[in-house]
Amino acid sequence: MSATALDYLLSRRSCKFVQAPGPNEDELAQILQAAMSAPDHGQLRPWRFTLIRQESIGRFADLAMASIKAAGLPLTPEKETSTRNWLSRVPLLIAVACRLDHSNTKIPEHERMLATGAAVTNILNAAHMLGYGAFWSTGIGTYVEEVAEALGYDSLDYRFMGYVALGTPISAPQLLARPDHGEFVNTWTGN
Ligand SMILES: Cc1cc2nc3c(=O)[nH]c(=O)nc-3n(C[C@H](O)[C@H](O)[C@H](O)COP(=O)(O)O)c2cc1C
Repeated sequence: MSATALDYLLSRRSCKFVQAPGPNEDELAQILQAAMSAPDHGQLRPWRFTLIRQESIGRFADLAMASIKAAGLPLTPEKETSTRNWLSRVPLLIAVACRLDHSNTKIPEHERMLATGAAVTNILNAAHMLGYGAFWSTGIGTYVEEVAEALGYDSLDYRFMGYVALGTPISAPQLLARPDHGEFVNTWTGN
């Protein structure tokens, strides 16, 4: 019997270490289209995605590493090397930002960020359903203003929310025992 959509949701794992091939253009379009089905109060469509394809990732790593150092943040040579090694095999990074849209004062900022997070979750699940590995990271200088700005996301109008690394898993992720949902759920009766 083939896996159902629910089986995929229950088995998703993050997969940091990925390599080529990444999704082809049709698959990538499906993955990004899945983001458009995220819940979105007021239909603000706050999510923004910037693709950093394999041929540009080395250049982007140079920029991010230089910006991290210029910002005076700690970056050991070992951490820089391991990050560069990781990125050197990643076929695609999707940089994620949330557009704040100050003209809308009705819907609070955190709801836009939740919608953007939901859009990313759809990306992670769609990638998994198509057999790819994906990993959401707020490393690589996510919180360094110069990095977000280089991607077109100034801090006045956007919250930069990191990257989804996407590709073929280098090794199959282990199934992880998840906590029982009962630990996180109660029922309110009003009595
Ligand atoms: C917003 C966000 C940012 C994250 N940033 C990082 C990160 O920078 N480094 C990291 O190791 N994991 C990060 N994670 C966690 C991984 O993406 C992943 O969820 C975690 O390793 C657990 O794996 P799982 O998704 O298979 O349960 C982040 C998760 C979220 C939701």
